[in-house]
Amino acid sequence: MDNGDLATEPKLLRLLVNSISLKMAGQPTFDTNLMTLTRFLIGEQRKYPTATGELTTLLNALQTAIKSVSSAVRKAGMTNLFGLASTVNVQGEEVKRLDVLSNELFINMLKESFTTYKMISEENEHAIEIDDDKAGKYLIAFDPLDGSSNIEASVSIGSIFAIYRHDPKATDLPSGRAIVAAGYALYGSATVIVLAINNNAHCFMLDPAIGEFVLTEPNIKMKPRGSIYSVNEGYHSKWDQAMKNYVHKKKYPEKEGQKPYSSRYVGSMVADLHRTFKYGGIFMYPRTSDAPNGKLRLLYECNPMAFVVEKAGGKAMVAPGQSILDIKPTNIHQRTPIFIGSVDDVDEIMDEYNKLGTY
Ligand code: AHG
Ligand code: MN
Ligand code: MN
Repeated sequence: MDNGDLATEPKLLRLLVNSISLKMAGQPTFDTNLMTLTRFLIGEQRKYPTATGELTTLLNALQTAIKSVSSAVRKAGMTNLFGLASTVNVQGEEVKRLDVLSNELFINMLKESFTTYKMISEENEHAIEIDDDKAGKYLIAFDPLDGSSNIEASVSIGSIFAIYRHDPKATDLPSGRAIVAAGYALYGSATVIVLAINNNAHCFMLDPAIGEFVLTEPNIKMKPRGSIYSVNEGYHSKWDQAMKNYVHKKKYPEKEGQKPYSSRYVGSMVADLHRTFKYGGIFMYPRTSDAPNGKLRLLYECNPMAFVVEKAGGKAMVAPGQSILDIKPTNIHQRTPIFIGSVDDVDEIMDEYNKLGTY
């Protein structure tokens, strides 16, 4: 068919006219130049001429694991993936079937990527050492499925990961300052990956039609102050005095005319953090009288989130003067209290601790 035929063919003509009028009306047309996560990673790698491509390969393996977990999460109700796996993990928590499946996906994809020498998973009591013939240069820590208590209610859940560069022969564990890339996947109303790498944090959204993560927000910067606090208020009676004072102030502002903060708590760290990341504010999991280190785990929950938030201009603290990323871990499953989010909001709770003199 030549151009003359095109003009006389009614269906094609209609299509042509529609596409021109859509363009003229400023409506989005099909993007023919998508920045996919895969393409983005290749671009990042090219910024460093000496890069070997190992980190790119690792992140692509992670991407595959995340796509598979996302697919499983979306089908959970229909494929008998809801419910318990009849085991209890190292933290003494009930393990759900989706926890087990997600953990297997992460381990299998990463093990065969030839990029990691050690894997630390929330679901495995001991670190998984990779045989020399398959080992690479990175240590990776992950929570394959975070927020499992929300699975049956179809509330958002996620995966969290941090990639550390640390001497494979070292007997100690790295602090968060050894992280080279970290992020999370949120299985929410859309599947989203937030990845912090080379000093910036970026947001990608899964387009299920093409099965690719597409860059939707490069170089995210957090607001210096928000108007939402996020904490499990059921534990109020177990909080220390600084926490009680701080939350009271958020509800009953001292200054005339100042609005109270809103309170939001999903109970999935990834969902609560993603909201904090996008809208600003603070997420807290403080120490309680019966859990002096709080609940959340340093290597694969707090460190990755702290890394992402810091790259976006936010802050993550344990106590006044003590950043999450500076903690020297002694145990792979160690827990830490965390105050994370917009700089001014985090500073304000730290001031409450300073006022009382001791932490
Ligand atoms: P996981 O499902 O991996 O065990 O983690 C759940 C975590 C985290 O997602 C959330 O912020 C926190 O548990 C909620 O704990 P509380 O129920 O004590 O508030
Ligand atoms: Mn978790
Ligand atoms: Mn988990």
